[in-house]
Amino acid sequence: MPTRRLLLTAGAATLSTGAIVGSMGCSGASPPAAATPALSPEHAFLAKLGQGLSEEFDYLAEVDGRLPGRLSGTLYRNGPGLFERGGTKKWNLLDGDGMLRVTSFADGQARFRTRFVRTAKYDAEQKAGAFLYPTWATPASGSFTNIPSRSQAGITPVVKNGVLFAFDEVSVPYTLDPLSLATTGTADPCEAVDGPASYKAHTKTDGETGRWVLVGGRGQRNPDLHVVVNDASGKALAHVSTPNPRSGYTYYHDFFWTGREVVFHLQPAFLSPVPMLLGTRTFVDSLSWQPDKGGMLLVVDPSGARASLSLDVPPVWMWHVLNAYRSGDTIVADFVGYDAPDHFLGPEATFRTIMQGREGVANSPGKLRRFTIDLPSKRARLETIADGHYEFPIAAPQQTGRKHRYAYLASGDLSRSWYHDGVARIDTDSGQRREFRFGPGHYVGEPVFAPNPRAHDETDGWLLCEVLEGKSERSMLAVFDARRVEDGPVARVQLRHHLPISFHGWWQAA
Ligand SMILES: [Fe+2]
Repeated sequence: MPTRRLLLTAGAATLSTGAIVGSMGCSGASPPAAATPALSPEHAFLAKLGQGLSEEFDYLAEVDGRLPGRLSGTLYRNGPGLFERGGTKKWNLLDGDGMLRVTSFADGQARFRTRFVRTAKYDAEQKAGAFLYPTWATPASGSFTNIPSRSQAGITPVVKNGVLFAFDEVSVPYTLDPLSLATTGTADPCEAVDGPASYKAHTKTDGETGRWVLVGGRGQRNPDLHVVVNDASGKALAHVSTPNPRSGYTYYHDFFWTGREVVFHLQPAFLSPVPMLLGTRTFVDSLSWQPDKGGMLLVVDPSGARASLSLDVPPVWMWHVLNAYRSGDTIVADFVGYDAPDHFLGPEATFRTIMQGREGVANSPGKLRRFTIDLPSKRARLETIADGHYEFPIAAPQQTGRKHRYAYLASGDLSRSWYHDGVARIDTDSGQRREFRFGPGHYVGEPVFAPNPRAHDETDGWLLCEVLEGKSERSMLAVFDARRVEDGPVARVQLRHHLPISFHGWWQAA
């Protein structure tokens, strides 16, 4: 494996001006002072999402109900697993060392394992017994700057050609053995890249060709937007860099893949790097939401045959893409969008306050939305497909880059709480919604679609959802028949402990 290349993309970005939404950070041991009330008794269990699980597990889990006989393979999930060291606790749900949670299904049984990614950061901090390096939203007392330059490898898992990749948004991914879960090093997914590159945690695997599409930053000063396309065997087919057309560093987390081109959504979230470099603010506190500057889409042809196209769109915050596809000269791009990222940015954002056992602020619902891009006229419009409150949208994996009809999402009721306690299937053609709600006292994460090996359509498979149950303070893996989401789980894999929040999963069929 190539040696690890640390790349600071954010810290070298161009300084942007404008109002700061985040609060002033510091290099001390305590987050900013409290303002919102303590978690209500109904919500108290949510603190478990930000409580680490230092012990590593390997056991056959009990199963309520019957696991589908054709559900054979492994679900890899990744997320932060360690928030506390040496008497200090991370400030934000985003800040924890990557921990794989792996469930293997065979013969009606479920084997569950956890394993930390042995990153350079993890190993050094294990040895020191203390946090040594700043992360996205938490300073480290031993560091002068607040640049999150060390990967936690705790956002996404991807399996390609016998290698399990664990991505962060810093540098290149870590690699693990997908069977033993042993960390084997780091690797640049594209050896053809000239010069240091970093990759976003989200990648796309084309549903028809199996091509693997990655994006990130290239260069150390005002990094270009970088696109890599590998064929199914891992050979680089295309890599192209294009300057970011926005003035200033804009934060984005995910991207669209149409089967032919990448679409970046350059939302108006700007970074002011100087306070972060000086150690007076964290990365997250250096981001500001500036809706008056509008949003922008950038369409990039990885082959380089066509010039990049930028289009103005209304401001909308996006974490995650559902899917995108071409319809003639039109690009359809679906995602979950918020009017404002108030759950993420600001001193009382729920991602932060939950770590202090407080309710926090989250007033903007995540709606299922659509960009429709007309390429000849170079115009794009934004519409809402489904009101409600959603996150973690997915389509059946074989539809990636092709027309999808169905969206699967974690669903909730923002009038009651910011978190999601259900699973929904939305028909994007008709708007019809099928939904199952676990109800109060349950937190539901991303549903991962495991296709039936004999799949005939994009509802033929199972949804695998990590659920934290408040009453028992334990987690389970709920298995849904994607055709009948509203019927509830057909099986529940009961774990012996809680799981801290996880972000994303990958289904690897046996
Ligand atoms: Fe994500």
